[in-house]
Amino acid sequence: MKICVIGAGYVGLVTSLAFAKINNKVICVEKDIEKVEKLNNGIPTIYENGLGELLNECLSSNNILFTNDISESVKNSDIIFLAVGTPQKMNWDVDMTQVHKVINQISNYIDSYKVIVNKSTVPVGTQKEISHLIIKNGVSTKNFDVVSNPEFLKEGKAIDDFFNADRIVIGCNSLKAKNIMKKLYASFNSKLIFTTPETAELIKYASNAFLATKISFINELANLCNKVGADIETVSYAMGLDKRISPLFLRAGIGFGGSCFPKDTRGLVKTAKKYGCDFKIVKSAIDVNEAQRMLPVKFLLAKYKEIKGKIISILGLTFKPNTDDIRESPSLYIIDALLNRGAKVKCYDPKVSIGVKDMFPNIEYCENLYDSLIDSYCAIICTEWDEFKSIDFSKVNTLMKYPMIIDGRNILNLNDIKKHNIYYISIGRSNIDNI
Ligand code: UGA
Repeated sequence: MKICVIGAGYVGLVTSLAFAKINNKVICVEKDIEKVEKLNNGIPTIYENGLGELLNECLSSNNILFTNDISESVKNSDIIFLAVGTPQKMNWDVDMTQVHKVINQISNYIDSYKVIVNKSTVPVGTQKEISHLIIKNGVSTKNFDVVSNPEFLKEGKAIDDFFNADRIVIGCNSLKAKNIMKKLYASFNSKLIFTTPETAELIKYASNAFLATKISFINELANLCNKVGADIETVSYAMGLDKRISPLFLRAGIGFGGSCFPKDTRGLVKTAKKYGCDFKIVKSAIDVNEAQRMLPVKFLLAKYKEIKGKIISILGLTFKPNTDDIRESPSLYIIDALLNRGAKVKCYDPKVSIGVKDMFPNIEYCENLYDSLIDSYCAIICTEWDEFKSIDFSKVNTLMKYPMIIDGRNILNLNDIKKHNIYYISIGRSNIDNI
């Protein structure tokens, strides 16, 4: 099929390459010309497992082209995917500027029937709004249908998630569009769910908000474990064996980050409010998360009272491992709180420093894990990178001013820790120095 994908961010790039891989002809439109050039030369613009190989495979088969020319791309395609950013505004509303801009642009070039598929995460009612906008722009209703096809991929596992999705949700009101979407996804082994656009749009928010709530639930439980001397890992494990609960997303830690959960939980609360519903449970999940990411600072102050002038090491900047994404990462909030209290911050992340340097020019970015520990009073593990799991405890003891680790992701082995003289705090695990 002839497909145009607008936007070469995480979702757009993975969508483009995945459809190109299964022998569709895909044109991916990206306004950033530097990105276009890199991608056409086989250089990935994001760090994502397997993406470089897939990009080069699709370029070699001539199934993908990157361009900034939207007009020809739209004219030459049957299906147009929207995968542009929908960031959050200060008031928690979703910023639809990019979606509206693209719709106004493509309206000029729709000269035959096209299915316009929205993959960006958008508020409920957007499919209808987009249709109205295209009609207002003078396009005949015979020439288009708008479909909602939310994306459920996880960063770090995006390609695998795309090809092996638990479900593919398609919200549309037209039989013609439904049949085209069916054909597009015919080779996928995933369950196809056809529903109304409003339902599809809500499924996306509901899924992310539910997972975020699950994380906040287990994090509150971990905090209780800390107090009563119970062990959160055993609690999670035992709970997860109940098939109705499932073991996934029950890992306690310093909270969720990323471009999706924080934004989509707030987006759902905002949508609910618009329709007169007070979504208390998701509001609480947000509140719990905001407190949870400050837990390391609370532990640190309980130990030292005063951290002014003390070196504190931050291990991991990204919101989760195997990505270079720092958006809404708990580490950023922790660094900010430490700097506000006068601490000196040293950090190390296996993938990232550049973007963070702009945000915090006064912290020290180390080339390796052990440099970041020198003279430090505490190391806070913010991301569960594999590299941190095998940290050399004897080096911790010799390099640090005081060997203290706050393991915000519960990755270190408790038995190994016990063999070394390290003041260790994790999130809700028993038999340790938890406060
Ligand atoms: C999330 C969803 O998992 C995807 O299904 C969805 O498509 C995506 O958002 C999106 O809307 O685009 P992602 O943000 O890539 O994917 O990351 P997750 O793997 O879901 O992790 C989110 C955050 O939750 C991370 O900060 C992670 O550390 C945290 N988390 C996850 C926990 O603290 N505990 C857990 O048990 C699981």
